Amino acid sequence: MNDATDVRTRLDAVDYLVDDGLAMAMFLALRLGKPLLLEGEPGVGKTAAAKALALALDTPFIRLQCYEGLTAGEALYEWNYQRQLLAIRLAEARHERLSDADLFTAEFLQERPILKAVRHAGPTPPVLLIDEIDRADDEFEALLFEFLGEAAITVPELGTFTALRPPVVVLTSNRSRDLHDALRRRCLYHWIEFPAPARAAEIVRRSVPGAREPLIRSAAEFIGRVRGLELDKAPGLAETIDWVSALSALGVTDLTDAAVIGTLGTIAKTPDDRTAVALAVHQETP
Ligand SMILES: Nc1ncnc2c1ncn2[C@@H]1O[C@H](COP(=O)(O)OP(=O)(O)OP(=O)(O)O)[C@@H](O)[C@H]1O
Ligand SMILES: [Mg+2]
Repeated sequence: MNDATDVRTRLDAVDYLVDDGLAMAMFLALRLGKPLLLEGEPGVGKTAAAKALALALDTPFIRLQCYEGLTAGEALYEWNYQRQLLAIRLAEARHERLSDADLFTAEFLQERPILKAVRHAGPTPPVLLIDEIDRADDEFEALLFEFLGEAAITVPELGTFTALRPPVVVLTSNRSRDLHDALRRRCLYHWIEFPAPARAAEIVRRSVPGAREPLIRSAAEFIGRVRGLELDKAPGLAETIDWVSALSALGVTDLTDAAVIGTLGTIAKTPDDRTAVALAVHQETP
């Protein structure tokens, strides 16, 4: 990709719509070969950004979903103990003894997403998504420093694997806890804003092919206003898409009171939010 405009055009071609800020952040991450840390409210398109980037670059997509208790064995690599045991048994049957050097070889190494991304041998580097890094324990972040800084992983028994060409790395976080400065330092950063109504409408237009105008536009504008309320969980793009899908499935063409109230469950996800949004509907319609 030659510049930020190019990034934007190619993402547009796979139906992911970015503003100038995100296009520039992605372009710089690609050009400098640095990981990109994306933050933003739930449903604002962080995960989708990495998937779209892989599609636009026409390169494999590797995903690591983080969760509490995630270990190196699940994220980086693991020794295949069963195969090692089997090898030992076979050797015993031949009255031979295997040494550590026989057992800790690449043959017995099981690649997990990060080592897989480092050792990827295809014509283009893959996109690696490390999704919701804030869900992993904070000690887990330290396991990533070598990889994020040098696109390398050291396996003590074997040595250091360094990527021939660094994978395109996207990390996402919902800010459920603070990330280490050391992790932030190794990444470029971008905060994804919820899109303005016109772009939200265009995203819905692409995601819900059956939906009609002016429903799409009024739904996007309504969501914009709803997001101004003090809600427990402000509706994101995912909710907006669900909502318009629901409205069009019901054959609704105009945002009437009844239509909004009937489909509230797609955009308001707690009892309090339901009440707040319902109230806003009544206040809006004369
Ligand atoms: N800029 C965009 N262009 C097109 N579609 C988008 C865009 N942003 C988000 N979407 C759509 O919105 C939906 C939600 O996005 P996504 O799941 O990536 O959000 P997220 O930020 O990862 O949310 P969470 O924090 O809950 O994981 C997806 O279906 C995605 O396709
Ligand atoms: Mg996500």
